[in-house]
Amino acid sequence: MMELPEELPQLYKRHVFACATQRPPMHPRGSCGHNGAGLLWERLGNRIEAEGLGATTGFTMSGCLGFCSAGPLLVIYPEGVWYAPKTEADIDQIVDRHLKSDELAEDLVIVLSR
Ligand code: FES
Repeated sequence: MMELPEELPQLYKRHVFACATQRPPMHPRGSCGHNGAGLLWERLGNRIEAEGLGATTGFTMSGCLGFCSAGPLLVIYPEGVWYAPKTEADIDQIVDRHLKSDELAEDLVIVLSR
């Protein structure tokens, strides 16, 4: 069996996965889409482009990340930081602080447990 390598060449400095799951309004699990993810992720994509971060920051719409009632949710790797933004201003904070300045946008961090 081949062991996992210590380090592989990285395609991106960071990769953002943003839950784009949309369930019907009355669905018992809720969904990030129903909680307003669409506009927020559009803002995030636009900001990543506008700031010229696209070459170093992957941005992928994901399926359900498993904590639907807390959404909209995104997670940024390699740090493994989860954010629960509610407004476009929150998105701007995540871009300006985490993606551009390498610091935590601590007000928007959500700590989840299984
Ligand atoms: S629908 Fe987004 S975490 Fe489940």
